[in-house]
Amino acid sequence: MCGIVGYVGGGDCRGILVEALEKLEYRGYDSAGIATLCDGKVVTVKAKGKIAEGLIPRLKLPGYDELKHAKVGIGHTRWATHGEPSDVNSHPHGNERIAIVHNGIIENYRDIKAFLVKAGYTFESETDTETIVKLIDYYYEHRFVKDINSAVDAITRAVSELSGAYALGIVFSDYPDKIFATRKESPLIVGKGENEYFIASDVAAVITHTKDYYLLEHGELAILSLTNGGVAGDGGSGAAGKAGGVCDGEVGAEVTFYDYHGGVVEKELLRVDWDSEAAQKGGYEHFMLKEIYEQPEAVRRTLSPRITDGKPDFAECGLTADKLREYDNIFIIGCGSAMHAGIVGKYVIEKLARASVTVDIASEFRYRDPLLGGNDLVVAISQSGETADTLAALKLANGAGCDTLAIVNVVGSSIAREAKMVMYTGAGPEISVCSTKAYMVQCVFMYLLAFAAAFAKGKITEDECTAYTTQLLAIPEVIEKCLSDVTAEQQVATRLTNTESLLYIGRGLDYALSMEGSLKLKEISYIHSESYAAGELKHGTISLITAGMPVVAIATQTALAAKTLSNIKEVKSRGASVILVATNAALADGGVGGGIDSISADMADYVIEIPHVSDLLSPLAAVVPLQLIAYYTAVLRGNDVDKPRNLAKSVTVE
Ligand code: G6P
Repeated sequence: MCGIVGYVGGGDCRGILVEALEKLEYRGYDSAGIATLCDGKVVTVKAKGKIAEGLIPRLKLPGYDELKHAKVGIGHTRWATHGEPSDVNSHPHGNERIAIVHNGIIENYRDIKAFLVKAGYTFESETDTETIVKLIDYYYEHRFVKDINSAVDAITRAVSELSGAYALGIVFSDYPDKIFATRKESPLIVGKGENEYFIASDVAAVITHTKDYYLLEHGELAILSLTNGGVAGDGGSGAAGKAGGVCDGEVGAEVTFYDYHGGVVEKELLRVDWDSEAAQKGGYEHFMLKEIYEQPEAVRRTLSPRITDGKPDFAECGLTADKLREYDNIFIIGCGSAMHAGIVGKYVIEKLARASVTVDIASEFRYRDPLLGGNDLVVAISQSGETADTLAALKLANGAGCDTLAIVNVVGSSIAREAKMVMYTGAGPEISVCSTKAYMVQCVFMYLLAFAAAFAKGKITEDECTAYTTQLLAIPEVIEKCLSDVTAEQQVATRLTNTESLLYIGRGLDYALSMEGSLKLKEISYIHSESYAAGELKHGTISLITAGMPVVAIATQTALAAKTLSNIKEVKSRGASVILVATNAALADGGVGGGIDSISADMADYVIEIPHVSDLLSPLAAVVPLQLIAYYTAVLRGNDVDKPRNLAKSVTVE
């Protein structure tokens, strides 16, 4: 969590930093700040709150005019870990000589702080980050000669003492033409523009300026420098006085990468395969709504290269039929919606391939000493590819000698690089904190994996496999039908706006789906919600039902519909207000002769019909109304849909 950026070049540094930070706000939005090099000084401006409410108004205050000439600067948007959201805990941290921005957590910061306090340093914030900048300052201060090598030594010595995760952008007033950047665990890219370079937590932050970027590896150091404009190459303390020259000249920029031992590294320049429109709202009121509507296309993009002659084709990652036949166990790990996609995977893989699948929350898996063998497959699902717990769980599986497969959206991310095999979901950038299209394509991968494993193990014939993939290829049209009229979801949202608590219930795949529906609603509407296996209600949870309490019941499984309807009756007769999400076929063939039209008011207060889809694939359609109900409820409650309180999209702390 937290987003960091940096800029070196001839453009409007201040404006570029603020714009990039706005793109990184999905990583945290408790406070934001920038530090730029102006007239030989580090000038820092930071404020509590979202960028539009805190930092931007502050930048307009008198006294910050000089920033408009800056050519070098760093910025940060924060998701608070150490210390409440406040001006003083905001990044950048430092003083007029050195400032840093940090993404990650330093676990031994108390020991470092104690050492620095003894050495005479005082601290003003509660952050772990302030200890990093003061430790760099300490080592820099102790150098007899102050030159660029001293700065590099101070940084490398300081970071060698840090335990935990960090991506750092660092500026020194003594080197006003430079940004120093390094990382361990937390992500960091270096963007290459026309006569300008950027650092950023992800490439989406700078996509309006460049699609070309380098991935910084663990322990590497990047030095971004202005190449002309008066000070490049000076590198000594005297450079400070020339900062004005930097501000006014025509400038270019360059970058040099160093490995842990100080050797220069040649790195491969990468290019993103989507453009800046993909990371903009494109006329939608919120990213979440846009991303919900992008789902048909995302599914098409995911499927088209991965079905050959009616069969799933995983040649890209080396997951062969032989391997799928041989695994003893399959584990699926992830967090949040990614873990929910794994639960859909468990149902379909076990049903079709008759292989044992265990789904684990990554933060539990990594500490529960799981029984892993060299003949097991561990599948890590992650949109960002940076979730700390999923990454650690994956490392554990690699350490245990398992085969590991990452199903990840962000190309080149840490989880993608850690796994032995990787498949990219190709959903395009997902900006809204609340995941929709990424969950959708993660589920699609679960189906592909189920079909591939079932076929490899001889549990389905080639014709059956082709029939399944044909149904999957038709899913984008079913989703389009779900999206063609959203009146029902809007009406349900008006019913939920003032509710305090509700339940989502279902059986089988409908239960897997109810977990995702409930999570969507609670994370953006802030209404308390729980998902429950419908058959388990009467073992305790039914005591929560009071008159008028909404219950969203999902019934898309023919074999289970009659049983779910009995459970609906049980909550209805205790006063619940039932919103039934169902397919006509599941009801008609599963116990309600007249199908959906015969559902009376004593059974459900509101019915949302899912277009025709097979029982097996129904989650891919039925999740859409659940996403829309959550979206419209949050909008009606006046919430910031794309940036819900207390959350962040990329959770890089455990
Ligand atoms: C955060 C996000 C969720 C996401 C989860 C896992 O909590 O808000 O939407 O499902 O992290 O993230 P990942 O990037 O690993 O899929």
